[in-house]
Amino acid sequence: MRKNSFLFGHIFVSASQPLYTKAYFHIFLMSAKSASKVGEKGFAKSDAAIDVSASFCGVKLRNPLVLASGIVDTTASSLIFAIENGAGAVTCKSISLEPRKGHGSPIIVTNESGMLNAVGLSNPGLASSIEEIKDAKKRLAAHKDKELRNARIIGNVFATSIEDFAKAAKEISKSGCEMLELNLSCPNVKDEFGEPFACNPAMAAELTKAVKKALKEANKDANNKINLPILVKLAPNVPDIAKIAKAVEAAGADGITAINTMPGMFLDLKTGKPILTNKSGGYSGPGLKPIAVKCIYDIYKAVKIPILGTGGVNTGKDAIELMMAGATAVGVGSAVYYRGISCFKKINNEIAEWMKENNVSSLKEIIGKAHK
Ligand SMILES: Cc1cc2nc3c(=O)[nH]c(=O)nc-3n(C[C@H](O)[C@H](O)[C@H](O)COP(=O)(O)O)c2cc1C
Repeated sequence: MRKNSFLFGHIFVSASQPLYTKAYFHIFLMSAKSASKVGEKGFAKSDAAIDVSASFCGVKLRNPLVLASGIVDTTASSLIFAIENGAGAVTCKSISLEPRKGHGSPIIVTNESGMLNAVGLSNPGLASSIEEIKDAKKRLAAHKDKELRNARIIGNVFATSIEDFAKAAKEISKSGCEMLELNLSCPNVKDEFGEPFACNPAMAAELTKAVKKALKEANKDANNKINLPILVKLAPNVPDIAKIAKAVEAAGADGITAINTMPGMFLDLKTGKPILTNKSGGYSGPGLKPIAVKCIYDIYKAVKIPILGTGGVNTGKDAIELMMAGATAVGVGSAVYYRGISCFKKINNEIAEWMKENNVSSLKEIIGKAHK
């Protein structure tokens, strides 16, 4: 069993500071300390009549907030820590068949409206991650807080070929996770131009079909005990995200996660060079929210499957906005950096307060409101 570790413990720098002079190793230690008393269940100030539970792809969630992929490492302790701090479900950091080292520091740079990361999909590989998920499930099943025993874990895999995606999906289905997210933002090495799966509707659909087929086989091998809904995670940097969503829905996707980070770059004005070792990275946090809202809005119009809306959610009102655009559940990533790990409890409380103030008793009343 690995010790829990949080990604934001890596070195990162602020684009508005003298570069490379500020390295923060302790953000998550601070988060851990701020895992505070914001209502033990996360809804201290809410009215009992307010229903913040959600059902996503047939899976019941005690609240709609989902820890986004990549924010904490896939260790049982990290996943449980996020659940104890109010997450309705947690997503594992993207896992590949084999271990992967990732990029050198600095891997995260912040500015006033968001953060740019180039972690490089570092992960210990599938075998070790499956053991961590199994351990998390075991520990949650015996958790002293009964409400947490059914907290959901979403696996997340990536690969550079359709065959490896299918293999990884089949393997991780044995871990006990309740849903599986496919990170389509990596390049397909078999494509002539190495285009990411998320940018091409035909490739995204072929991949979805292959994963569904692999999971059907896994289910057969397990005497029908594995019923794993798949969420296809889409990227915002495409001309028409709804087209990709439609293609993966037709190929059998059970849900869509929208969106991943937006490609970006920060330059050091003294040297004129990119700040990140990898030069470019993925932008997330508050600056990403309007992009996420538009993507979710467009996808909602195009498909019937549910959307896990992700991108720039820092407050309860942000979460409500993504739901109004069409999200059934809401991913929370960079907010863990801005507000600490207790952001889940805080955002849940803010959602409940907003509902109370606006006479809304169930989240169902606001999902897709922008379209009505
Ligand atoms: C440091 C960091 C690492 C991430 N790693 C992954 C990853 O491994 N897999 C993935 O699917 N998304 C990854 N993401 C993207 C997030 O899951 C999420 O889609 C994105 O950050 C937008 O949400 P946010 O604005 O709430 O952070 C990462 C994001 C950040 C900030």
